Amino acid sequence: MKKLLTILLALVMVFALAACAGNTESTENNGNTDFSQNTEDQSATPSEEGNVSEESEQSGKTPDVNPDDTVSESDHDPEDSKILVAYFSATNNTEGVAQKLADGLGADLYEITPEQPYTDEDLNYGNSGSRSSVEMNDPTARPAISGSVENMDQYDVVFIGYPIWWGEAPRIMSTFIESYDFSGKTLVAFCTSASSGFGSSDSALRSAANDATWLDGHRFSADVSADDVLAWANGLGID
Ligand SMILES: Cc1cc2nc3c(=O)[nH]c(=O)nc-3n(C[C@H](O)[C@H](O)[C@H](O)COP(=O)(O)O)c2cc1C
Repeated sequence: MKKLLTILLALVMVFALAACAGNTESTENNGNTDFSQNTEDQSATPSEEGNVSEESEQSGKTPDVNPDDTVSESDHDPEDSKILVAYFSATNNTEGVAQKLADGLGADLYEITPEQPYTDEDLNYGNSGSRSSVEMNDPTARPAISGSVENMDQYDVVFIGYPIWWGEAPRIMSTFIESYDFSGKTLVAFCTSASSGFGSSDSALRSAANDATWLDGHRFSADVSADDVLAWANGLGID
């Protein structure tokens, strides 16, 4: 009888241990504050299939299609929108946020396209001789933009999106800001980054357009939800 009890006890312990082992997955912490490593994780492969697939590629999550989660769009007519979302995005992260913002606000969307596109080599921040490093080491660098916003006069509010490069807005954003007269307009910057906060990343832009009213900018992670982006925008007090 004693032997039988010992065997039963041993069996119970084996099952208990097996159950514990099964629960240990998903406790891993993937947080990483080293942007050089996070950047690789967040870089999106350009995709013809649109932003949802890029987001899901980056995050490994299934695209969120729950109708309850959809953003309530304003009744803004895009034909005569007074809000513009202008953005530069080298690896599509900022583009995803810009699209969510424009969709949610019924705003027009404008991509700041470099005349000379950035290659992977250009974006290599580990190389001090790469194009991005050289530009960011030179505050006067002004990479050329292909095309322009035809009717900037139409807009009262311009959102300005960019990726953080070495804690700042890429120099092409200065090219953009210096190309238009923003006086009397409301400007608000937003950015994506691997880990850096918004900080004073818009300070060069603010001083180049100091006749505008600048609102506080915001940093988003690449996989921010449309609801969160719109909640931020709606909290700015813009009509
Ligand atoms: C040249 C370069 C410099 C970067 N510097 C920073 C940085 O200082 N801090 C940070 O958190 N991420 C940094 N990153 C990562 C980008 O900010 C991040 O991947 C961003 O989401 C990319 O946006 P995009 O896909 O719209 O270009 C850098 C990336 C590049 C290419």
